[in-house]
Amino acid sequence: MPWTETSRTTAEANQDVPRRVILIGPPGAGKGTQTHTLATHLGVAHISTGDLFRRHVGGRTVLGERAQTFMVRGELVPNEITLATVRNRLAEGDAAGGFLLDGFPRTVEQAVFLQQLLRQSGTGIDAVLEMHVEEDEIVRRLAGRRTCRECGRSWHVEFDPPRAEGSCDACGGALAQRDDDREEAIRRRLDLYEQETRPLLDFFRERGLLVRIDARGPVAEVGERAISAVGTTDHSGRS
Ligand code: AP5
Repeated sequence: MPWTETSRTTAEANQDVPRRVILIGPPGAGKGTQTHTLATHLGVAHISTGDLFRRHVGGRTVLGERAQTFMVRGELVPNEITLATVRNRLAEGDAAGGFLLDGFPRTVEQAVFLQQLLRQSGTGIDAVLEMHVEEDEIVRRLAGRRTCRECGRSWHVEFDPPRAEGSCDACGGALAQRDDDREEAIRRRLDLYEQETRPLLDFFRERGLLVRIDARGPVAEVGERAISAVGTTDHSGRS
């Protein structure tokens, strides 16, 4: 099982935790870093649209080739591709009991699509966790990020280094810099976050679903904040 996919485990029988959770934050906020711990805590599947697209790119599929032309420039992959990818992934068995979505939705249009999709199965979004980090910290994080070519796990040359330089502790795969972690693409991704994703925060806030955490500081501390924040959400009245 790839590192980025988490099967239902510890919280499987726990009805008190939210089960359909969205993680939002700017590029480099640490979403991917926290998802494994958080998804395991919630006992739900971890679904990252960025990872799904990168797997297609690595597998040289038609979808991957199309997505890559947008990803390398830091642009959003068009909805025609993205919505079908998400619909198919949510239809897989491990997502039936819940999911932690990382990187989706990114626009109000995508959020409305998700709400409608979940409504068809009589469910809804339980909670939305916003990871807040300032821009100078984001740039430091992205500049030093190294990603495993095999399992997709992110490391950082300074803040979260692997034991052996260039090699993933989790699976032994080779580490590399992501194509979209170049300065120009980073700038475009940050601009798009402000233009397209920030309005989504109000969308979820108005529905009483948004909880914000301070995502600065050591990885473990941010993880504890995330777990405690989702525990405080009132998911009785689903959106
Ligand atoms: P995606 O993969 O979702 O990229 P992103 O949102 O830009 O987020 P990142 O993966 O860059 O950052 P992260 O928050 O996960 O940070 P990480 O944990 O790695 O999407 C990529 C592309 O796919 C998009 O640009 C778009 O083209 C396309 N796409 C995806 N979803 C789409 C959608 N819905 N619609 C259309 N297109 C879509 O951490 C970063 C670094 O910081 C790491 O090195 C890590 O080790 C380090 N770090 C993490 N936490 C800490 C900490 N607390 N202290 C110090 N260092 C830390």
